[in-house]
Amino acid sequence: MYKIGVIPGDGTGSEVIREALKVLEAASEVENFKYELVHYDFGGDRYLATGEILPDSAIEEFRQLDAILLGAIGHPDVKPGILEKGILLKIRFELDQYINLRPVKLYPGVYTPIKDKGPEDIDFVVVRENTEGLYAGAGGFLKKGTPDEVAVQESINTRKGAERCIRYAFEYTRERNKERKLTLCGKTNVLTYAFDLWERTFNEVAKEYPDIKTDYAHVDAICMWFVKNPEWFDVVVTDNMFGDIITDLGAMIQGGMGIAAGGNINPEGVSMFEPIGGSAPKYTGMNVINPLAAISAAQLMLEHLGQKEAGRRIEKAVMKVTSEKLKSLAAGQMGYSTSEVGDMVANLVKEG
Ligand code: IPM
Ligand code: MN
Repeated sequence: MYKIGVIPGDGTGSEVIREALKVLEAASEVENFKYELVHYDFGGDRYLATGEILPDSAIEEFRQLDAILLGAIGHPDVKPGILEKGILLKIRFELDQYINLRPVKLYPGVYTPIKDKGPEDIDFVVVRENTEGLYAGAGGFLKKGTPDEVAVQESINTRKGAERCIRYAFEYTRERNKERKLTLCGKTNVLTYAFDLWERTFNEVAKEYPDIKTDYAHVDAICMWFVKNPEWFDVVVTDNMFGDIITDLGAMIQGGMGIAAGGNINPEGVSMFEPIGGSAPKYTGMNVINPLAAISAAQLMLEHLGQKEAGRRIEKAVMKVTSEKLKSLAAGQMGYSTSEVGDMVANLVKEG
């Protein structure tokens, strides 16, 4: 019996989560696993009504869960940063979800802006460190608001943090068993402290994985290669900031924000899964947003919980819907409503 926390969050979050839960239910019927949902209403509306963002007591409750499914964070009436830091980043940090796992896979029938590349070329995974680097919040202002103002934002890189991320990436590459190739993405030509640590750690850990090929690319170059030769990549490991940037590029080449999902993983603790598309306020309540990213987030969650067969069923169903049904992944242009897409995927999950 899995205990799953559900945070629909802001905007279209609740619409896409509703569809993901539909698919979860279908998967549980055919795969015979049981779960219980615990609903949480954290997000912009609650913050505006009560002033509460995410209390520490909620974090303590989350520790008792098996996983969390998150919809979207970001409210047009709340200053940017408050909810992102107060909810999303707080959960990542407090639950020590040190891996951000982002599959970049072009499904059949999905439009990619990359000419002459297809599903056989675009299928890789980015393992992003999720608790350190520039996201650690180290720094501050001096003489703020004056002409002499100084702002410092430091990238914190620990041996332990880099090593556990790199080790996870090697294990993941082995288990994925495709090209068995892991690429470190960094900036060793300029960030000669941070990525020296990363590169040394990478090379040391690599010795324990003689079956995995290794490679290195600077972050600027990898932006080029993701577009020009995406087929070169199997698994990519990188730090928090670079991972944030290159995974939006990855999302675009796999068809956009309507399809991209990710996991915030603590392999020894509680992990959280989310569509990475944001809250899309202008589409809220219209039943036009694409729920496939949230459905894929539920798939990642089930795979993480060990329900590999349920995950396989969901992915197969999503691929059938992208290849045979949807006109586009864009909100309002799918040819179906949000709930119709959820129904189609749920039915296909039950069929096969
Ligand atoms: C992501 C998002 C977040 C991040 C924001 C919303 C704080 O862009 O998950 O990639 O920067 O990590
Ligand atoms: Mn991002």
